[in-house]
Amino acid sequence: AGYFTYDPGYVSTGACESKITYIDGEKGQLLYRGYPIEQLAEQSNFEEVAYLLLNGELPSKEEYENFVAKINNHTMVHQQMMNFFNGFRRDAHPMAIMVSVVGALSAFYHDSLDINNPQHRDISALRLIAKVPTIAAMCYRYSVGHPFVYPDNDMSLAENFLNMMFSMPTNDWKPDPVLVKAMDRIFILHADHEQNASTSTVRLAGSSGANPFAAIASGIACLWGPAHGGANEACLNMLREIGDVSRIPEFIERAKDKNDPFRLMGFGHRVYKNFDPRAKVMRESAHEVLDLLGKHDDPIFKVALELEKIALEDEYFIEKKLYPNVDFYSGVILDAMGIPTNMFTVIFALARTVGWVSQWHEMIGEDDRRIGRPRQLYTGATERDYVDINKR
Ligand code: CMC
Repeated sequence: AGYFTYDPGYVSTGACESKITYIDGEKGQLLYRGYPIEQLAEQSNFEEVAYLLLNGELPSKEEYENFVAKINNHTMVHQQMMNFFNGFRRDAHPMAIMVSVVGALSAFYHDSLDINNPQHRDISALRLIAKVPTIAAMCYRYSVGHPFVYPDNDMSLAENFLNMMFSMPTNDWKPDPVLVKAMDRIFILHADHEQNASTSTVRLAGSSGANPFAAIASGIACLWGPAHGGANEACLNMLREIGDVSRIPEFIERAKDKNDPFRLMGFGHRVYKNFDPRAKVMRESAHEVLDLLGKHDDPIFKVALELEKIALEDEYFIEKKLYPNVDFYSGVILDAMGIPTNMFTVIFALARTVGWVSQWHEMIGEDDRRIGRPRQLYTGATERDYVDINKR
């Protein structure tokens, strides 16, 4: 009793068993339920991947259709949710809105509080997967002062999201299939990543028996930071700041300088000490999207390609095994699609909701679930007597 391992940053602590996602950081391998991420990104779609992560197996045709129908049943948000949006400043960061609105869902669905009932757990999981894309698009529409667009349940989740983001009652704009495919891939690639900071936050919050909407809201809050999901936004801002390939060496030198807090955003990973397999797929997608949009000469894309090349040949990055991560190219794609930078992490959160829900579901279903409760190494004052304020 009283003995524990001191492991700041949980660098070497395994806190749970999981059957969902496997990463081999040395090889640069990522598997969802055993399936390589590259195959899923090429051949599957986000709804199927959601089913897989949640249920453990790829669905039969019938199971797939039932699952999609069930999601479509829950894509609308309660009309009263509008009041939440209207309470925010128009220039609020969409992540600030999202964290509150998702947390507030439990105020609408009281069955979510009963986490011991498997049926209630399942419906909360579906509600989250279905409603978060609608909420994400609403965050954007609110910020630009455009009317909200209802979900169209004849569309796939990725197409629906783009439609809710950009369509207007005054025209018949429809998302281009290449952009839908790229968005779908971004969703698949971000869907789960085992026990990262936000997923661990969801598990820790959920371990107390808190309802799933509250647990996922805490995950969204954690994801926001620039060391985690906020890196895609930070990466694009960095590429913009660099602005021209001629300035890359200056920024590489800054990243290497220990007296400068600047880091190359979109580079490095706690687990991958090799190429992040998601970054490779993302780079391919970036080429496809920029080709379609005729933006191959986009200065941001040029800076990204050149920066990657220079960093991969630099001794500092080689020695520290710093490779591009998933966020390095996702921002370039989203930017080319006309998505504002402050929505990038919202899109990450939308996709990761599937992973958070799957991990929460797995944890809650365990027979021997215990509350998460890390220990600490106390470094404060030893016991001392209280001194009256007049004598201090
Ligand atoms: N640029 C320059 N140096 C770096 C970078 C970078 N991007 N990343 C790590 N280093 C250096 C760091 O200074 C340290 O050097 P030293 O050993 O001399 O002190 C060494 O590499 C190890 O870094 P660390 O911070 O101890 O590693 P970590 O595992 O705690 O952090 C990380 C991982 C992802 C937070 C970090 O690499 C980083 O800050 N990267 C930039 C932000 C980013 O792109 N985050 C997205 C991660 S992928 C998406 C997601 O999962 O959210």
